[in-house]
Amino acid sequence: MPKPRIQFICQNCGSVHTRWAGKCDACGEWNTLVEEGTSGGIGSGPQAMRSARKGRAVVLTSLAGDIEDAPRIASGISELDRATGGGFVRGSALLVGGDPGIGKSTLLTQAAAALARQGHRIVYVSGEEAVAQIRLRAQRLGVADSAVELAAETNVEDILATIADGRRPDLVILDSIQTLWTDMADSAPGTVTQVRAAAQAMIRYAKSTGAAIVLVGHVTKEGQIAGPRVVEHMVDGVLYFEGEGGHHYRILRTVKNRFGPTDEIGVFEMSDKGLREVPNPSELFLGERAAAAPGAAVFAGMEGTRPILVEIQALVAPSPLGTPRRAVVGWDGSRLSMVLAVLESHCGVRFSQHDVYLNVAGGYRIAEPAADLAVAAALVSSLTGLALPAECVYFGEISLSGAVRTVAHTQQRLKEAEKLGFSQAVCPRSGEELAGKISANAFQPASLVDLVARIAGTNGGGKQPEARLRRIPGE
Ligand code: TYD
Ligand code: MG
Repeated sequence: MPKPRIQFICQNCGSVHTRWAGKCDACGEWNTLVEEGTSGGIGSGPQAMRSARKGRAVVLTSLAGDIEDAPRIASGISELDRATGGGFVRGSALLVGGDPGIGKSTLLTQAAAALARQGHRIVYVSGEEAVAQIRLRAQRLGVADSAVELAAETNVEDILATIADGRRPDLVILDSIQTLWTDMADSAPGTVTQVRAAAQAMIRYAKSTGAAIVLVGHVTKEGQIAGPRVVEHMVDGVLYFEGEGGHHYRILRTVKNRFGPTDEIGVFEMSDKGLREVPNPSELFLGERAAAAPGAAVFAGMEGTRPILVEIQALVAPSPLGTPRRAVVGWDGSRLSMVLAVLESHCGVRFSQHDVYLNVAGGYRIAEPAADLAVAAALVSSLTGLALPAECVYFGEISLSGAVRTVAHTQQRLKEAEKLGFSQAVCPRSGEELAGKISANAFQPASLVDLVARIAGTNGGGKQPEARLRRIPGE
């Protein structure tokens, strides 16, 4: 029997260290190393495992063969099915991450109830709440009469023994992975070793029986799933449930999906009776739009296969500071710096003495570079005090040379804009012929200078845009 070794494992990235240090060498995080024993079980190394038992031969099989059930079980909640790529995949493990209180348990309770109503066997194991609390939530959601089987348990071996009883479950929900612990590992629940070992055991169960499992994981403030970041590599799919404080809507975003697309989102609204689907998110994000005001531009974006229109708001104000402020909510800060630099060096628009604030309305988060053009339009509009036309949408990527580059899905973006009552568009030149009424009013600048000139109203006058821009009070 080898002597138990002590290891220090980073709770952020899972790397193993032989001695304690204040900072993890691998990921650079501070105070994340925690002492974990390795005697037996996971982490004891292949040597120890090998001496423990001889391998057993498994039956090799072929690619062709009968599949008994439909490979996916769709919940019927279409925003959820969209994010999972058509439903939960049998025999797969899905991780649902999100901040505490965002609505993960609510979403999964609703999904469990919907599936149970279709006749599937659904087991919901909660390690966080007592049975009474879960019942209370189910009552509030109006699903208390569904046949979901419920347990409040945290030990993996006990859970596996419980669900092995009777018909194989179609879906097992484990809320949350941080509370699970297994006899196989001897560190405290919530540590990387425990979380990894517990997830491993549950994933092995899913693969061997064909049940789908959902692991719920809490995310830390930094946006990483605390500790179980290591779990992301082990599971087949990762969904993040996100939302902005103070707003009611929630976005279920696919980060990883071995069986479907990874750029899909599902949009929900949290109400007093649980999560409601939002089939047309553009209306939600444009809902509070006032009449045209300087600094606002509507961006025609895409999330996966679905177009989403959202308002971008910029405020450019003279700065009393030596180094002006740049604050961004809902977009990439370095991308904003790039757009500002291109506006300064190629279009003669100066921001160096101005604070710049950028906000994506409704707390939505944009990940596409196609928002460049809308951001630039909003910035110039705020700086000049000239409102942009309210019925116009913007999209296009800006290169460092100031050229406007084409982006994918031009037609879909324009179609969505037209559907929501927009009649003008500013978009890149693309090879394809633009269709629809809106294309008659499409302005397709080759470079950002053209757009700035159009906003400043000096287009065709032969003057440089700076001439107009310098007359602005406060410049
Ligand atoms: P919950 O699903 O418990 O969050 P998580 O599992 O991600 O920690 O959701 C908790 C929040 O949602 C809580 O603040 C109350 C709110 N909520 C509603 O607004 N309406 C509802 O119908 C329910 C069930 C919860
Ligand atoms: Mg919960």
